[in-house]
Amino acid sequence: MKHIITRKEDLNSGDYVMDVIAPEVAKKFQPGNFAVLLTIPNGERIPMSIERAEGDKITMYIKRLGKTSRELDSWKVGDSFHKIIGPMGTAPTLKEFGTVVFASDLVCGHAENSAMCRELKKIGNNHVISIQSFPTKDDVYPEKELSKEYCDEFILATEDGSVGKKGHYLDIIKDLLEERKIDQVFAGGGIPPLQKLSELTKKYNVPVMTTVRQIMVDATGMCGSCRVFVGGEQKLACIDGPMFDGQKVDWESAISRLAMFKTKEAEAMECYNKEIKELK
Ligand SMILES: Cc1cc2nc3c(=O)[nH]c(=O)nc-3n(C[C@H](O)[C@H](O)[C@H](O)COP(=O)(O)OP(=O)(O)OC[C@H]3O[C@@H](n4cnc5c(N)ncnc54)[C@H](O)[C@@H]3O)c2cc1C
Ligand code: FES
Repeated sequence: MKHIITRKEDLNSGDYVMDVIAPEVAKKFQPGNFAVLLTIPNGERIPMSIERAEGDKITMYIKRLGKTSRELDSWKVGDSFHKIIGPMGTAPTLKEFGTVVFASDLVCGHAENSAMCRELKKIGNNHVISIQSFPTKDDVYPEKELSKEYCDEFILATEDGSVGKKGHYLDIIKDLLEERKIDQVFAGGGIPPLQKLSELTKKYNVPVMTTVRQIMVDATGMCGSCRVFVGGEQKLACIDGPMFDGQKVDWESAISRLAMFKTKEAEAMECYNKEIKELK
């Protein structure tokens, strides 16, 4: 099976969207699952959230960060991945919650936001509120890539207030928790805000499920690199997650584990930049 790219567009100056043929992943996908991408045989295994699965295709939002995500950015429609594996992880149980909020502030969270809101809307009488926050108006995704059409209320926020409400999703949720009865919160994106959100929701006694992105090496439960402590128990983000009860996550250890490969990542980026320079 060739995992061919059928669409690749910029979402803003840092993120891009890709549709890729991956029928086995698309068929079994549930919101909250992720895929593992291999650009070349025996290459790095890149975990990536799935924004949607339609027919034989999956959609992913990707941030240009280090070596692989920048290399991938030079790929075009028609190019193909060596392998796409998945769906991976354990999808959270979605049911009739009542008023449910999904908040996101970063590429992976925005992908999960649309996937989850779309599904939550289909279940019972859920009233779905989506909050997507971006640093400034130039970072906001094109309208068709926002979760606007999959929820009952959509709140766009920018940290500088250049469009939508002023502030981060944390500010918006704080106001919502003060003003209304919220039954469940889900969130994905940057890790430090997820820790703050978990503390905030605890104060209001509202449950929260958060995506705990950890560095994944094999993403099959064998290497232990994606260890997370939840309620004192050791869990593996690639098998048991990546969504966990945020109020039980040991965020300090999760944050410190994220820095584990910083030197190797910087070395890989340096080599890549050198290769690009030599090619020019
Ligand atoms: C469950 C899950 C879902 C994800 N969803 C998305 C998504 O939807 N969009 C997106 O752009 N990124 C997503 N990521 C992160 C993505 O895997 C990394 O950004 C990517 O691997 C970066 O690789 P790189 O070579 O470009 O950068 P590198 O220089 O290798 O890394 C840059 C940063 O990316 C993160 N990262 C790198 N490798 C991994 C890894 N193997 N596992 C987890 N994080 C890593 C680390 O924070 C690292 O500091 C997700 C990660 C996980 C675990
Ligand atoms: S990535 Fe190896 S156990 Fe999860």
